[in-house]
Amino acid sequence: MTFLYKGPAQRGAIWAEQFARKMPQLPFCFWPDVGDAAQVRFLAAWEPPARLEETFPNLEILFSVGAGVDQFDLSALPPGLQVVRMVEPGLTACMCEYVSWAVLSLHRGIPQYREQQQRGEWKEHPVRPASSRRVGVMGMGTLGRAALAQLRQLGFDCAGWSRSRRNDPGIRTFAGEAELGDFLARTDILVCLLPLTPETRGILDRRIFDALPPGASLVNAARGGHLVQPDLLAALERGQLSAAILDVCEPEPLPQGHPFWNHPRIWLTPHVASATQAETAAEALLDNLRRHDAGLPLEGVVDRSQGY
Ligand code: NAP
Ligand code: GLV
Repeated sequence: MTFLYKGPAQRGAIWAEQFARKMPQLPFCFWPDVGDAAQVRFLAAWEPPARLEETFPNLEILFSVGAGVDQFDLSALPPGLQVVRMVEPGLTACMCEYVSWAVLSLHRGIPQYREQQQRGEWKEHPVRPASSRRVGVMGMGTLGRAALAQLRQLGFDCAGWSRSRRNDPGIRTFAGEAELGDFLARTDILVCLLPLTPETRGILDRRIFDALPPGASLVNAARGGHLVQPDLLAALERGQLSAAILDVCEPEPLPQGHPFWNHPRIWLTPHVASATQAETAAEALLDNLRRHDAGLPLEGVVDRSQGY
């Protein structure tokens, strides 16, 4: 039985060392040195090798090395293969930092002050407490709930929206299409932390922007495919939105000359809101393998029919 890793060598070296120390009975191989392919039961990859079923006839689990699984063609994977996304505290903590930074920046009007600075304009706007700012997070999964907990600690008036009903202390929760309108109507800063699925592709569009209070702002730390780019530009132009902070785009990187690059009210970061942290992720993988051994459910199992 072996564990196969396909990904950056630096992270692989850290994982191999931790596996050798903590689970020495499970050999750790680096793609393409797979040894006996029939022994490969576990694969960790962002882009799995082609023809998985033929190449690794005894593969049981495909671990995504990131939180997202939209990079996989779930319908093309072997039918019985379990797919597991990355749930690990390092990745979650980094996302919380990014979302807090972005929400605080928008709350304190930093994009507007930056624009004023470039014009040489010294002009104050009212200073408001966080408690008067309504933040809404789309996606109440591992990352959305952790981000909401931190935003709440900062004092923001927080709400979350998800497909099914969630109950988190101190957070107003909304579920499904039926409650989306009420969620948006009370959201000054909208944060997207949804997975990218056929249902959520293009969700950040004119309909959503128009349902927010005028002058609201947007943080997209999920996937570029969630955003309808011309609708964002039009909403900023009309003043319906006041600013957007985008960590993700489609395509990545954006082509030179794309209107987002020089837009005064759009801040871009190059898909760095968070990243799997090698040490904590190794622990999470080992924990999941121990659960598998014990016949317990794994953390982060993907419902392939839902796409996340
Ligand atoms: P997760 O735990 O699977 O949570 C997904 C959440 O989205 C759940 O609350 C789910 O609702 C909700 N959802 C899914 N489809 C929905 C729909 N159609 N309508 C309403 N709600 C829906 O995912 P996660 O670990 O928090 O990660 C979220 C995403 O963050 C990842 O998929 C990835 O794309 C992105 N990400 C980005 C970065 C970056 O650096 N920019 C880093 C890591 C992850 P239920 O609760 O009802 O299931
Ligand atoms: C990064 O975007 C991830 O999905 O982990």
